[in-house]
Amino acid sequence: MKVHGLALVGFLIAVVSCKAIEECRENEPFTCGNTDQLSSKSFPEDFIFGVASAAYQACYKSTIFDVEGDKGRGLNVWDGFTHRYPEKGGSDHGNGDTTCDSYTRWQKDIDIMDELNATGYRFSFAWCSLTYMTISNHIIMVCRDQQFQKGKIGPVMITRWFLPFDETDASRDAADRMKEFFLGWFMEPLTKGRYPDIMREIVGSRLPNFTEAEAELVAGSYDFLGLNYYTTQYAQPKPNPVTWANHTAMMDPGAKLTYNNSRGENLGPLFVKDEKNGNAYYYPKGIYYVMDYFKNKYNNPLIYITENGFSTPGEETREEAVADSKRIDYLCSHLCFLRKVIREKGVNIKGYFAWALGDNYEFCKGFTVRFGLSYVNWTDLNDRNLKKSGKWYQSFINGTTKNPVKQDFRRPNFSFQNQKKKLADA
Ligand SMILES: *[C@@H]1O[C@H](CO)[C@@H](O)[C@H](O)[C@H]1NC(C)=O
Ligand SMILES: *[C@@H]1O[C@H](CO)[C@@H](O)[C@H](O)[C@H]1NC(C)=O
Ligand SMILES: *[C@@H]1O[C@H](CO)[C@@H](O)[C@H](O)[C@H]1NC(C)=O
Ligand SMILES: *[C@@H]1O[C@H](CO)[C@@H](O)[C@H](O)[C@H]1NC(C)=O
Ligand SMILES: *[C@@H]1O[C@H](CO)[C@@H](O)[C@H](O)[C@H]1NC(C)=O
Ligand SMILES: *[C@@H]1O[C@H](CO)[C@@H](O)[C@H](O)[C@H]1NC(C)=O
Ligand SMILES: *[C@@H]1O[C@H](CO)[C@@H](O)[C@H](O)[C@H]1NC(C)=O
Repeated sequence: MKVHGLALVGFLIAVVSCKAIEECRENEPFTCGNTDQLSSKSFPEDFIFGVASAAYQACYKSTIFDVEGDKGRGLNVWDGFTHRYPEKGGSDHGNGDTTCDSYTRWQKDIDIMDELNATGYRFSFAWCSLTYMTISNHIIMVCRDQQFQKGKIGPVMITRWFLPFDETDASRDAADRMKEFFLGWFMEPLTKGRYPDIMREIVGSRLPNFTEAEAELVAGSYDFLGLNYYTTQYAQPKPNPVTWANHTAMMDPGAKLTYNNSRGENLGPLFVKDEKNGNAYYYPKGIYYVMDYFKNKYNNPLIYITENGFSTPGEETREEAVADSKRIDYLCSHLCFLRKVIREKGVNIKGYFAWALGDNYEFCKGFTVRFGLSYVNWTDLNDRNLKKSGKWYQSFINGTTKNPVKQDFRRPNFSFQNQKKKLADA
């Protein structure tokens, strides 16, 4: 009798906690398209939910056109590259000359962000690599006047997570090496004023050295980390076919990266279909691991997810492109693991910016893919409308849940003081 009573209590507790926090799924079918369970309301209160764009890709300042007497931004390396090698800008010879022309159509972009109820916008413009601001008409105008005192600057990294290809030590080593190498690449100059040890060992004299003054300048100089996460790959050891002097950055760690493991299993749902080079797959749980890694390795820095997104084929019809349920799966599965890592590990993440606000020029792919939460009609650039994924994000942000699940977040201490100041104050 007693035993039964206890069992019943245990069962009830299990049911209650299941209802409170739905487990995150790593693969299809995803169920988190349901914003009853997963919405902005189950993130810390001051968490920013926004969208992202970038100067060259969305054309914040036109190279070619003289807008309102403005002389334009001048040329950058991507203009040079795409004009000199049009075929490398994308198989469609696309480039960033005009793209979605956010430089002149910014009001339309703001309207869409208002519709989303986004609380932040990550964008860049050509004369300053990165600024982050709260969205409002006023601030966009301010930006155009080149005064952006409110901007907060942080380095942005493209991060990818690495899993061992199989259960061998060699494969685990290869995955660790990739982490040290590529996640430590940008990071250690900023925390220690020099490149990671493993990189110095392998790359040796091909790696520039910082002078003492440079090291002093960069170490601890950031306000926050902006992490762009898209996918994960398996790593396995791979001897290099070329001599050390001719290595590319990808060859130095001596690892081969794949989307399937030694058992031939794919990493997760389809990410990019590519018959020529092999399909890419994605792994929502990677965002959990990578955030936890940065927290532990770099002393719990302030983090913003500055990009996370999914592409669909550019040749889809408008109807197909707008009915983008795969993008909803991608966004919601990553947001689920993001919530989980904040809740379970107390990672100091304060914002998430979905890539991208609207369809735009993609580096090396031109307009053959669409990454937007809103659809852009390339023959009528004012015709920009939320896709299904944009509508989903809208209801996620609004948190239209019947029974909002209040979650017990560990609240990390928030401060925009940079690491250097923190050290000086200590
Ligand atoms: C950087 O310093 C290391 C150690 O002093 C040296 O071995 C290496 O050749 C230097 N690299 C360059 C590019 O000067
Ligand atoms: C590097 O590659 C070039 C040709 O691509 C070759 O001529 C040269 O010998 C290589 N250097 C080394 C050190 O292997
Ligand atoms: C893994 O993927 C590659 C590239 O798509 C493919 O060539 C290979 O056959 C796959 N391996 C297994 C074991 O499925
Ligand atoms: C794009 O806009 C043009 C001009 O308004 C219109 O004729 C065309 O149907 C639109 N294309 C799509 C795919 O909606
Ligand atoms: C946007 O937020 C406001 C205020 O919270 C709310 O009243 C409105 O319904 C939201 N709009 C959408 C489309 O969710
Ligand atoms: C947004 O949420 C508010 C209350 O939380 C609700 O009244 C409103 O209808 C929602 N807006 C939309 C468009 O669902
Ligand atoms: C948060 O951190 C700041 C500076 O790092 C410190 O001055 C403040 O006392 C901390 N607040 C709490 C509640 O710990």
